[in-house]
Amino acid sequence: MAAKIIDGKQVAADMRAELKEKVAKLKDRGIVPGLAVVLVGEDPASKSYVTAKERACEEIGIFSDDNRLPADTSQEDLMTLVEKLNNDPKINGILVQLPLPKHLNESEVLLKINPDKDVDGFHPVNVGKMVVGEKAFLPCTPHGILQLLKRNNIPTEGAEVVVVGRSNIVGKPVANMLIQKNDMGNATVTVCHTRTKNLKEHCLRADIIIAASGRPNTVTADMVKNGAAVIDVGVNRVEDATKKRGYRLVGDVEFDAIKEKASYITPVPGGVGPMTITMLLFNTVESAEKAAAKK
Ligand code: GUN
Repeated sequence: MAAKIIDGKQVAADMRAELKEKVAKLKDRGIVPGLAVVLVGEDPASKSYVTAKERACEEIGIFSDDNRLPADTSQEDLMTLVEKLNNDPKINGILVQLPLPKHLNESEVLLKINPDKDVDGFHPVNVGKMVVGEKAFLPCTPHGILQLLKRNNIPTEGAEVVVVGRSNIVGKPVANMLIQKNDMGNATVTVCHTRTKNLKEHCLRADIIIAASGRPNTVTADMVKNGAAVIDVGVNRVEDATKKRGYRLVGDVEFDAIKEKASYITPVPGGVGPMTITMLLFNTVESAEKAAAKK
């Protein structure tokens, strides 16, 4: 069976068109949604994510406030900036790009962001609300994965899902969202990680595999059941002298072999990646609509 390649760019384009209309409606009322992006340091991957996020904002009419700080920025200066953005009525969403340089205290910074502007969904208040099933900003990559499943008619209800990876950004939240009692959840979820004893055995049971280990070839074809859906969250740079920039991007799964066995698979790039940014735009528009309703 040759898998259907899930086109994340197309799903993202459909959702962005819907969001553009919402932004236009807000503009008719004199409201421009605003997203502040904070990048500390010079990490090349983070820089390209931040640039892509800002460009996506501009494309749908969201005001993007760019805050790039040197790698040696102090904790105090970063906290002061977040406080300023918390109090700025033009700003509906605040995104501090992670990881931060080692000398900075990440959890203290995330705690400082006003939960009503936490469009990344990383503040413990939003994480807690998500876990107990209350309305909250959902973290962008997991929410993007759920949208990809939903919009490709891949059912989660009753499905065996294996998540590979337990990060706070992807593994833990996506597992939580999939066990919720709602139309994007109702799955039976196993979370595997670096201390899991028999990854292959777990993966072979899965109707849906979500690979978010951050390592190429974590999931190989012998670990995939015929007809399973495979969602690849990995974005790894591997050296490639044939490319002008000297590297190419690969995911966490053995794409070429798995696509002959699976029912669905996401490519890298062009699968989950475009959805992450789309869900950030979604949260920012929602935040602006909420702020407008309070006026
Ligand atoms: N670093 C990797 N992914 C993300 C993300 O979704 N949000 C932020 N803020 N940082 C990240």
